[in-house]
Amino acid sequence: MEILFATANRNKVIEIAGKLGEDYKIITPADLGYEGDIPETHETIAENAVEKAQFIWDKFGKNCFADDTGLEVDYLGGAPGVYSARYAGTPKDPVQNVVKLLKELDGVPFEERTARFRCVIALIEDGELHTFEGICEGNISLTPMGTLGFGYDPVFIPLGMERTMAMLSLEEKNVISHRGRAVEKLVAYLHSKQS
Ligand code: IMP
Repeated sequence: MEILFATANRNKVIEIAGKLGEDYKIITPADLGYEGDIPETHETIAENAVEKAQFIWDKFGKNCFADDTGLEVDYLGGAPGVYSARYAGTPKDPVQNVVKLLKELDGVPFEERTARFRCVIALIEDGELHTFEGICEGNISLTPMGTLGFGYDPVFIPLGMERTMAMLSLEEKNVISHRGRAVEKLVAYLHSKQS
């Protein structure tokens, strides 16, 4: 079954495709000829996920889903949160975002660097909205480690692990990650519709 994912982020497509399995083929707005921006203008991750899915639904009238993710750092009062993508300013710069985060946490001991990734997937199916949330708890590392993944992965150590997310294989990340957990809920919902 084909399913439209409202994103231009190849990393997200690869992660979610790995989790959805062979029953589903992900297509993106680019496959339908749309390469423009997908707006995310709200103050919460859930609202942004819905906005992205609604934008693509309005454009193509096809069932689709979107993902919005934020990194919430307790020492920083939940920042960067919904502003994670543009934490170091515009245009979006994932490397500078990590540099800024480590600077803000300079001198803060590991135990106080608790954080979580929060991911909301919004699905619009036949005009009806469904949302699925996944959370991954962990700590921000003292320095970046690892080359896999994307975004803040090099500085996020999932709870109970000694490696950053950027040191985990795609399969390992998908088992414990915020996105992997949200996709599990999406898959359970899609399967429940088929049975
Ligand atoms: P968005 O969901 O694409 O708006 O992402 C918000 C910010 O979080 C961007 O800076 C992404 O690079 C980052 N981000 C999203 N998902 C992940 C992830 O799975 N690991 C690390 N960083 C992520």
